[in-house]
Amino acid sequence: MKTIVVYYSRKGSNGYLAQKISNALSCEIEEIRPRLNVFMFFLMDIHLGIKPLKRNIKDYERVILCGPVWVGRFIAPLRCFVKKYKKQINQLIFVTCCGSTFEKKDDKFGHGLVFNKVKELANGRVKHCEAFPIDLVLSEDKKDDDAAFMETHLNDSNFKGEIQERFDNFIQTINSIN
Ligand SMILES: Cc1cc2nc3c(=O)[nH]c(=O)nc-3n(C[C@H](O)[C@H](O)[C@H](O)COP(=O)(O)O)c2cc1C
Repeated sequence: MKTIVVYYSRKGSNGYLAQKISNALSCEIEEIRPRLNVFMFFLMDIHLGIKPLKRNIKDYERVILCGPVWVGRFIAPLRCFVKKYKKQINQLIFVTCCGSTFEKKDDKFGHGLVFNKVKELANGRVKHCEAFPIDLVLSEDKKDDDAAFMETHLNDSNFKGEIQERFDNFIQTINSIN
């Protein structure tokens, strides 16, 4: 299935994850570039949309969208992408490296609520959502440490063990979707 990974990342974890997915599927990858890349404005939900992608989304059968969750929101650059290209998207898969754990996914700031928002916005096109919470790469003694959550980013040295297994399962799962 002709696939493209489209991502937005501020601190690199979602960029790393997006690249991993693109490598695993041997598919193209493109970064979402906001017109106004000011983090504080994103948190206030002030934005001017995104720059046009270099590739033509219509040419792909499957789009994998990857990006962070901030304050419980489906963030502006990702939301703008879905709004702008929705009609050209056939299958959409949403993936996030986020702070919220599986245990807290349905809390106010949990990724589960963001999954619902993506599904609502892309009506019917979302085939799968997957989270890779950052605590998967934290040692047991750091799992309750807020500073460790914020300072840790995915990279080649910590992407192993449970997160790697979950990643392999994710690739298998999406490859089994027609
Ligand atoms: C200001 C801010 C707010 C955040 N809010 C949430 C949140 O509500 N829920 C969540 O799961 N993670 C939250 N996070 C964690 C990010 O999703 C996490 O740091 C993400 O991996 C960053 O991705 P990046 O490295 O690609 O920029 C927040 C991070 C920041 C900096």
